[in-house]
Amino acid sequence: PSKYQPYRTSYHFQPPKNWINDPNGPMVYRGIYHLMYQYNPKGAVWGHIVWAHSTSTDLVNWTPHDPAIYPSQPSDINGCWSGSTTIMPWGTPVILYTGINPQNQQVQNLAMPKNLSDPYLIEWVKLPNNPLMAPSSLNQINASSFRDPTTAWLGPDGTWRVLIGSKTDRRGLAILYRSKDFITWIKSQQPLHSAKDTGMWECPDFFPVLINSKLGVDTSTLGPDVKHVLKVSLDDTKYEYYTIGTYNPDKDIYVPDHGSVESDLGLRYDYGKFYASKTFFDSLKNRRILWGWLNESSIPADDIKKGWAGVQAIPRTIWLDKSGKQLVQWPIAEIEKLRGQQVHLPQQVLKGGLSLEVSGVTAAQADVVISFKVSDLGKAEVLDPSWTNPQALCSKKSASVKGSLGPFGLLVLASKGLQEYTAVFYRIFKGQNKYVVLMCSDQSRSSLNNNNDKTSYGAFLDVDPVHEELSLRSLIDHSIVESFGGGGKAVIAARVYPTLAIDGKANLHVFNNGTENVKITSMSAWSMKKAQIS
Ligand code: FRU
Repeated sequence: PSKYQPYRTSYHFQPPKNWINDPNGPMVYRGIYHLMYQYNPKGAVWGHIVWAHSTSTDLVNWTPHDPAIYPSQPSDINGCWSGSTTIMPWGTPVILYTGINPQNQQVQNLAMPKNLSDPYLIEWVKLPNNPLMAPSSLNQINASSFRDPTTAWLGPDGTWRVLIGSKTDRRGLAILYRSKDFITWIKSQQPLHSAKDTGMWECPDFFPVLINSKLGVDTSTLGPDVKHVLKVSLDDTKYEYYTIGTYNPDKDIYVPDHGSVESDLGLRYDYGKFYASKTFFDSLKNRRILWGWLNESSIPADDIKKGWAGVQAIPRTIWLDKSGKQLVQWPIAEIEKLRGQQVHLPQQVLKGGLSLEVSGVTAAQADVVISFKVSDLGKAEVLDPSWTNPQALCSKKSASVKGSLGPFGLLVLASKGLQEYTAVFYRIFKGQNKYVVLMCSDQSRSSLNNNNDKTSYGAFLDVDPVHEELSLRSLIDHSIVESFGGGGKAVIAARVYPTLAIDGKANLHVFNNGTENVKITSMSAWSMKKAQIS
């Protein structure tokens, strides 16, 4: 790896070197949080995959261990791919994961802790009778599209269920298996859910959320006060979509509330770069936590030069919005203990066309929280009915395109002369019968290095700007800008690689490139301390 490392993170999880992808089997066991993840011990590109393993007491500082699972038996000799842990009713964790066998078929295997009195669960043993689920001519499963078992859940009938991602032709499938003993698994005739033309469903996740509560519940929880969430990661586009719906445990089917939306306009946890995510129930704090992988936006040759690729997003607490129509996410509270020196801006009006530089904060490593209030919405630009795709609208109307109500927001990782910056901002439009708030993360000017992918990202935010303030929080970490709009109703993570706006040369601004004034009702920025990561 090169000595020059301006893009390594300070508080987002990453190992010292090499390639990482999906978070695997996150859990809490005997007061210790475990994160395992797809890892290539041999280099900065994907291949030779094992489950690397780290533990933590606070989800912020991490201790690395030896890989928990690595190729060692025929059923995983060509790779140990993604999977999940399930905590048995008596407290023991069990891993189900995808192994690649000598024929390069995808099969499902089981591993158990060797020593349950070790809270770090350093050693894992695999069942000698692996694989427990395999493609065959009888079950008509596609051997190259059969992977990523979910956390299993226990039905009221005493039977376990688990989902495996798959497809037949272009139809994405959440294949359902059932078991009485967690070892003999029988495929259900019907998938839990499927959708045409979506391609392979990677890393499915299926879990209950409470109605009208931010608290999380165990994955097996059923009842009138829960809804269910099904998330899939689409291999074709590398976007994730989720639906909220109803799970019928008798028929073992899941019905999304609003059609079968796994499409361009479906709901996403994150409208930027965030993939192969997975939740777990944190029984220590009764919350559900979401982990997700942030891939690089640089080219593989540059990844090889820097010696690493991939980071994990900050774990996010996730719950059902009071509308019942979407999920809300917020960085775990523990991350706030890294907040150091705080800078605060007094309440003020930011005139159209003006910007403010925020000094006194380590802008390459910061947590920034700001709220805006707009008083005169009459001037809002009319939303063209053809502007239905927020990402396309954000790239058409980048931060440098003047508007009336917006763009206003933050310029982060900005160089002194603004040759480089990443802009995270809002625009307010007048829609058919309501105002429409667009949130953008504009990477188009993030780096002078044109090898990087500088795609802009965008989301529509379900906030009423007439009655509510528009809040924005950005976690900035050298090559990561992870932004939470509207208190977590829309999230956008981006990877950026400034060449000038590095470390001490990175700056932070608040800007308003609209013609109308906006009021900054509150603004705080914290320099973030370094976490113990590797
Ligand atoms: C998702 C994925 C999974 C697979 C793993 C292999 O990023 O492709 O479907 O199990 O990565 O590393």
